[in-house]
Amino acid sequence: MSADATSSLDSIRFDGRVAIVTGAGGGLGRSHALQLAARGAKVLVNDLGAARDGSATGAAPGESAADRVVAEIRAAGGEALANTGSVTDPVAVQAMVDQALSAWGRVDILVNNAGILRDKSFSKMSLDDFRLLVDVHLMGAVYGTKAVWETMKAQGYGRIVFTTSSSGLFGNFGQANYGAAKMALVGLMQTLALEGEKHNVRVNCLAPTAATRMTEDIMPPAVLALLTPESVTPGLLYLASEQAPTRAILCAGAGVFAASHVTLTEGVLIGAGPDAPELIASRFAEISSRANEAVPASGMAQSQQEMAKVMPR
Ligand code: NAI
Repeated sequence: MSADATSSLDSIRFDGRVAIVTGAGGGLGRSHALQLAARGAKVLVNDLGAARDGSATGAAPGESAADRVVAEIRAAGGEALANTGSVTDPVAVQAMVDQALSAWGRVDILVNNAGILRDKSFSKMSLDDFRLLVDVHLMGAVYGTKAVWETMKAQGYGRIVFTTSSSGLFGNFGQANYGAAKMALVGLMQTLALEGEKHNVRVNCLAPTAATRMTEDIMPPAVLALLTPESVTPGLLYLASEQAPTRAILCAGAGVFAASHVTLTEGVLIGAGPDAPELIASRFAEISSRANEAVPASGMAQSQQEMAKVMPR
C-alpha cells in the first residue's frame, strides 16, 4: 500500500484503553498483547502457562510466560500486568478482571484467546477430553465475558473478541471436541452482539490460522513461515478498535482476511402432507440453493421467513 493510501486511513489507537488478553504468554495471544500495547493500550497479560494439551507446566513467580510478555511490553515502553489464573476457574477469572479494574479503573477490551487441543478421532475421544475442551474454550470465554459485561455496559463501551476456528466453522478430522467448543463461541457471539448493541459493546469472532505450537506439527515449514501470528493480529486490532463491527466472523491468516457467515437459504414451502418427506428429498437441491440466501439479523428471521411463505400478503 502506498504511503498516501496509508495516511488517508484513520489510525487505530488504544490510548486510555484497558485490554485483557487470555492465553497471551505465547503464540497469537502474545502477538495481540504486544500490538495492543504498542498502540497505547494498558494490557493485562493472562496465561496459565499450560502445555498444548492443557496440562499445567508450572513456573516460578516472576518467570511465567505471562511475566515474560509483560517484560517485553515494558521494555518497549508499554504498560502491562501479568496474571497466571486459569480461564477455567471463574473465581480466578473474576480476580483477573478485578486486577485490571483496580490497577486501571476500567476494562475496554477482552480478547478470549486461551486454548488447548486434545485431538483424537471421535471413536477414541474420552468424554473427559471433550468436556475439558468445552471448559477451556467455551466456559473460559463465558467466565471472562461475564466478569467484564456489567463494567462494559456501565461504561457504554466494550469490545469482546472470541477466538473461534475453521475447525469449528467447517470441521476438521480429529477435532470434534475442539470444533464443537469453537463453534459454540459463534453462537455466544450471535446473542451477545445483540444484547450488547445498545450499550456500545461489540462482540466478534476471530478465526485465525497461525504457526504456533498448536499447529507446528500439522503444516509444512514453508507454509508455517508465512503464517506468522503477527499477520493475524491486524484483524484482532480492528475487532478490538472503536471502529469495530459487531457480529462478524473474521478469518485471518498470512495477512489474508475473509469473513465467514451463517446464512439462511430462501426456503421452499413443502407443507406437512403425508408425502412431505419425499418432497423434501426430491427438492433438496432447491431447498439448499444459495441463490437468494441471506445472513439473518437474528434468530427471528427464520420464523418470519416461514410465516411469509405460509401466509403471503
Ligand atoms: P498457543 O498454544 O501458542 O497459545 C495458547 C495459550 O493459552 C498458551 O500460552 C497456554 O498456556 C494458554 N492457556 C491454555 N489453557 C489456559 C487456561 N486454562 N488459562 C489461561 N491460559 C491458558 O496456541 P495459539 O495457536 O496461539 O492459540 C491461540 C488461540 O487461537 C486458541 O484459542 C486457539 O484455539 C486459536 N486458534 C489457533 C489457530 C492456529 O492456527 N494457531 C487456528 C484456530 C484457532
